[in-house]
Amino acid sequence: MILVTGGAGFIGANFVLDWLAASDETVLNLDALTYAGNLETLSSLEGRAAYRFVHGDICDRALIDQLLAEHRPRAIVHFAAESHVDRSIHGPGAFVRTNVEGTFSLLEAARAYWGGLPAGEREAFRFLHISTDEVYGSLGPADPPFAETKAYEPNSPYSASKAASDHLVRAWHHTYGLPVLTTNCSNNYGPFQFPEKLIPLMIVNALAGKPLPVYGDGLNVRDWLYVGDHCGAIREVLARGRVGETYNVGGWNEIANIDIVRTLCALLDELRPDAAGSYSRLITYVSDRPGHDRRYAIDARKIERELGWKPAETFATGIRKTVQWYLDHPGWVANVQSGAYRDWLTRNYAGRENSAGAGA
Ligand code: NAD
Ligand code: TYD
Repeated sequence: MILVTGGAGFIGANFVLDWLAASDETVLNLDALTYAGNLETLSSLEGRAAYRFVHGDICDRALIDQLLAEHRPRAIVHFAAESHVDRSIHGPGAFVRTNVEGTFSLLEAARAYWGGLPAGEREAFRFLHISTDEVYGSLGPADPPFAETKAYEPNSPYSASKAASDHLVRAWHHTYGLPVLTTNCSNNYGPFQFPEKLIPLMIVNALAGKPLPVYGDGLNVRDWLYVGDHCGAIREVLARGRVGETYNVGGWNEIANIDIVRTLCALLDELRPDAAGSYSRLITYVSDRPGHDRRYAIDARKIERELGWKPAETFATGIRKTVQWYLDHPGWVANVQSGAYRDWLTRNYAGRENSAGAGA
């Protein structure tokens, strides 16, 4: 069996669903169910013997020790994190706690457990740490995409806390020999993403006739990967990745934010036309995110060369599926738009005056 942390979040839940669609190997999902964790996403697994859920915190060392001793997983796949840059600007403490202290607690528990395994199981054990391309910092327009050898230059409290966790994982391998693997992936999109991140926020706001808030001049660039492709990459790295190595995972899709928003408007115009006119009328430039990284891009050649992985979806196919998924699941969306979600929208967007014409 494998232990997954953060399996009720966006990528973790997609991973658990994909894993159990392809295998009967048991998944133990440990998740603290923060605002980002949602068991409804996993409701299709109810009654499935190969799926177990534990409500708990990765900072709780005693709990992790107990789970490892009781369930004896052959691998830990570590997704649990605070993951949203804007939230990290408003409240960095939770990011240091979960991403740094939580990863430390998990590594220490894994080290103790792994050290006590019989030789064969010890050899086979893996600790797979899921990280982000944001640890590498921001690229200029002509810079090459991030390779695994790129120096870390994190700029936000989120990316700094993820960078710290990556360094801990690396050190636990070099110092203690813990068999770790790290993946650094670009921006994911797809079903079950919480509507605080760019793509689901824009879809949800458009359908509600609300402004589509584009930060700054809208020309910040991200590389976008369909979440199912990310899950496939994680499975490959877990199965065949070289211990101690890092693999960058990306979609070869560098797109400016404003082009993402225009694409979403065009798809919604086609799939759910609005009598009031094109959804693009809702695009609103607002003041920028402090310290906003200009460009991320991933050089994903290593994972393709060593493990034969490359994305199956193009951006055109992945984004169409994603828009259709949100149109088909209004109940899921409504259920995550709790009072806490509305409070967040007020906190993040109320202070951003419209900056009309900022590149419009
Ligand atoms: P998410 O915010 O949707 O989900 C995080 C999950 O972790 C939630 O279910 C939450 O309840 C859980 N969690 C938070 N704190 C916890 C704690 N202390 N103990 C146990 N569980 C806790 O995040 P996501 O978008 O699914 O990202 C998953 C991982 O992938 C993160 O490590 C993130 O840094 C990384 N990543 C995300 C992206 C992206 O585009 N979303 C890209 C690259 C890497
Ligand atoms: P986000 O989805 O928060 O991911 P990240 O900051 O981790 O890359 O944001 C993606 C891009 O979209 C980023 O450049 C910020 C921008 N953005 C907006 O312009 N408006 C918004 O309301 C949000 C949430 C993001």
